[in-house]
Amino acid sequence: MNTTHHSLIKAAYGQKVDRVPVWLMRQAGRILPQYRAIRNKLSGFKELIKTPELAAQVTIQPVDELGVDAAIIFSDILVVPEAMGLNYNLVEQKGPSFPSTIETREDIDKLKVLQHDEDCPYVGQAISLTKQELNGRVPLIGFAGAPWTIFAYMIEGTGSKAFARARKFLYQQPVLSHQLLSKITASTINYLRAQVDHGASIIQLFDSWAGILPPDQYRTFGLSYIERICSAFPDVPVIVFPKGAYYARQELAEVDCRVVSIDWNMDPRETRDLLGDVKTLQGNLDPALLYAERSEVQAATKSMIEAFGRKRYIANLGHGVYPDTPLDNVKAFVDAVKEYG
Ligand code: CP3
Repeated sequence: MNTTHHSLIKAAYGQKVDRVPVWLMRQAGRILPQYRAIRNKLSGFKELIKTPELAAQVTIQPVDELGVDAAIIFSDILVVPEAMGLNYNLVEQKGPSFPSTIETREDIDKLKVLQHDEDCPYVGQAISLTKQELNGRVPLIGFAGAPWTIFAYMIEGTGSKAFARARKFLYQQPVLSHQLLSKITASTINYLRAQVDHGASIIQLFDSWAGILPPDQYRTFGLSYIERICSAFPDVPVIVFPKGAYYARQELAEVDCRVVSIDWNMDPRETRDLLGDVKTLQGNLDPALLYAERSEVQAATKSMIEAFGRKRYIANLGHGVYPDTPLDNVKAFVDAVKEYG
């Protein structure tokens, strides 16, 4: 199914659109009662992402319920480390946790490079089903974690405020760090290629922990691997979300991606100045603003669009929507973008 006529894809390529496209990071999930109904019947989150029929169903829920201009495949960035051989558990209210972590060269050698479709076939199957059911209504976004963020979880073993263990590893074991990052990058390229082959029209790299590195470390251990991934995908637009890495914006202008997604700490006009006309920008409403009064949500959404401008722009939040956000305010955000025209 050709999806090049969709506003999201056109905006990514810098083409003229009739209306600013809008979607939300984490739009499929606990904000929707339909999601909670399915999720509560299952043993856990992993069962959901490993059952293609259900994953497809929850991927489409926000398209029906919120009227967003894109679907994002329901999965998780931690599918990649798991397929490489590092299992994780998702602890309710606490987040991901890895029973064993990467510490030595042997640990890295034991990891496998994820192969195209063999190591997590359920993601490709979910994408094929979703594409069938969407029948061209909106494009489907594929995604993966950026190598640095995946590395951080593999070394640290859990979420963390500063990932001190992962950052220590970069300084003590730079050679091993590059080995691990290369292996993650090769896996991620194979994984994303499978997603594109199954029908993802655009891909997003989530670098959720970009902001905790100093600029030189991010260049060496973050951006250089993002560049490898981007250059492996000349055929689809790539969105890079370097959460917190305000210091890397100018360098991102040189990275071969079409779209840069920014968080709410970054000023839209300043970011435009730094990145120039060569990138489409995505973002960046503070997800906490969706707890405000409806009228405030509407006003903030309008001023956000004015600050970014309607050209080369995809409306979104600055990070994933919080699970207990009032659904009416999520709708008010989407509707405000659409009403802006
Ligand atoms: O955006 C979407 O709607 C698609 C689905 C999606 C999920 N995770 C589903 C999910 C996406 C794009 C992700 C990406 C992801 N996963 C990131 C990058 C984005 C970000 O938020 O920074 C990260 C860091 C993860 C790792 C992860 N997975 C964490 C930290 C958690 C626990 C936190 C939480 O929200 O509970 C998960 C679990 C997870 N991934 C859930 C969902 C809907 C909640 C699980 C549940 O329903 O029980």
